[in-house]
Amino acid sequence: MVKTIDGRKIAKELNETTKEKVQQLKKQGIQPGLAVILVGENQASQRYVHMKEKKAIELGINSISKVFPETISESDLLIEIERLNDDPTVNGILVQSPLPKHINEQKVIETIDYHKDVDGFHPVNVGNLFLNVSKPYPVACTPKGVMTLLEKYNINVDGARVVIIGRSSIVGKPMLALMLNANATIIDVHSHTKDITEYTKDADIVISAVGKVATITEADLKEGACVIDVGQNLDKNGKLVGDVDYDPENSKIGYITPVPGGVGPMTIATLMQQTVEMCEWSKLK
Ligand code: GUN
Repeated sequence: MVKTIDGRKIAKELNETTKEKVQQLKKQGIQPGLAVILVGENQASQRYVHMKEKKAIELGINSISKVFPETISESDLLIEIERLNDDPTVNGILVQSPLPKHINEQKVIETIDYHKDVDGFHPVNVGNLFLNVSKPYPVACTPKGVMTLLEKYNINVDGARVVIIGRSSIVGKPMLALMLNANATIIDVHSHTKDITEYTKDADIVISAVGKVATITEADLKEGACVIDVGQNLDKNGKLVGDVDYDPENSKIGYITPVPGGVGPMTIATLMQQTVEMCEWSKLK
């Protein structure tokens, strides 16, 4: 029977640890701070940003929200980011994506002080990750959360055959680097791959970050495989589902992260964890 990787439980435990760390820091007169910038009125983004603020407050992190209209100019947004770069109470800066078309997202990412880049999207941090440098640096929260889940469930990564489906900057590429740094053998498949099943059928771990219902089915997997489903899709009935189609009652899969309740809760918990870590790292400088 397939074992469920309970992301809600692990996220809750991680949040408890983060909360305790914040309490310890507060005893030393230090409060970690997270600034979240939202541009425009995209409803999904509003919902995500609200969840991030709420969790930060719950854990004792100082939450700073900046909401700007869709019409804000790129230069005004960059000025706001520079203000936050200079604000010593802010340890992490997150600009919710997507941004309006007239704003260059890469320019925004590169304007964030890389020491405060809590999303781990800045080229310096991406470089640190791919070089596997030994000093601490922030890493994209969803892939970092996936590594935490695998570790908590004692799923072996060292020497494992790992197939990652997708190559985005938010999930696929940082996931690939984290896996390589953890000594896995990696194949990254994507929209130009001729036969994805050719690779997934031999994989010990399959990570799907595509955003399409039934990207992977049981027929694509080997018996006992660990399947990490990063997809968040609405099916034809409007129900939230992942990328993986399987029968929870009768499956040959070894481990699965369900949707909802798998990877999703780990993203925000990891964001909070990383905000506090960055506060601690800033004291090392
Ligand atoms: N939009 C969707 N996911 C993310 C994320 O991880 N970080 C940011 N900044 N925006 C997002």
